[in-house]
Amino acid sequence: MINNNQSSIPLLAASGLCKSFGCIKAVNNAEIKVQSGSITGLIGPNGAGKTTMFNLLSNFIRPDKGQVIFDGKPIQQLKSYTIAQRGLVRTFQVARALSRLSVLDNMLLAAQKQTGEDFWTVQFQSHLVLREEKKLQEKAIFLLESVGLAHKANDYAGGLSGGQRKLLEIGRALMANPQLILLDEPTAGVNPNLIREICDCIVAWNKNGMTFLIIEHNMEVIMSLCDQVWVFAEGHNLAIGSPEEIQTNSQVLEAYLGK
Ligand SMILES: Nc1ncnc2c1ncn2[C@@H]1O[C@H](COP(=O)(O)OP(=O)(O)O)[C@@H](O)[C@H]1O
Ligand SMILES: [Mg+2]
Repeated sequence: MINNNQSSIPLLAASGLCKSFGCIKAVNNAEIKVQSGSITGLIGPNGAGKTTMFNLLSNFIRPDKGQVIFDGKPIQQLKSYTIAQRGLVRTFQVARALSRLSVLDNMLLAAQKQTGEDFWTVQFQSHLVLREEKKLQEKAIFLLESVGLAHKANDYAGGLSGGQRKLLEIGRALMANPQLILLDEPTAGVNPNLIREICDCIVAWNKNGMTFLIIEHNMEVIMSLCDQVWVFAEGHNLAIGSPEEIQTNSQVLEAYLGK
């Protein structure tokens, strides 16, 4: 649901982004805008540069050129963790949960700026550390409930199904108090029941004001979730529109069908 009051100033705006790997122009003068409060889609054939775009937006890799403005400020010079602290977090196409830790510990690891990490605080203010740990645990349990994983809190993350791992990724992203979450293929390889759960979770958080940018191949998911869809092909922008407009756009159909 787009917040119309702010619709003229995007929460995220990237322009002129370029990234080459050797002679492959993975992202070639691409742009994207994400309105505050929206669920925005990013689609395109395999190899279109979508994941590279996420890596550039979150500065996991440095762009060769271009700029990224988040919440009114340029961020392309900042480290990934600083960008996350400012409220832009991303998940990965292949979920990155630590298999040999519990689901709850995976959540706690994703929390930002823990008092317990500071040696002197641990030594002299242990009551503060304990209080913060308790608060973080409560938050983690609350978020696990919201993504439907509370019953798995004490299980090893390695025992989760593919879909549950994707939900854990969303839960981990939420631990960072983000304004914008980038989801890379949240329903890829997930069974239909869990796809519905993942979509419900995204919609519920969006109703709470969370903004999402989602890379997704499942067109039903795109159609049911997104306010606006950006289409990439061969590293650059091909089309932009509502899900309905995109579905009937002849250039988009051509790019997918390879005609
Ligand atoms: N680290 C990398 N090194 C070399 N080539 C890469 C790397 N990452 C992506 N590519 C290439 O860049 C292009 C875009 O990849 P990617 O962004 O993963 O596409 P998508 O997510 O749309 O499928 C592909 O040709 C891919 O092989
Ligand atoms: Mg990808």
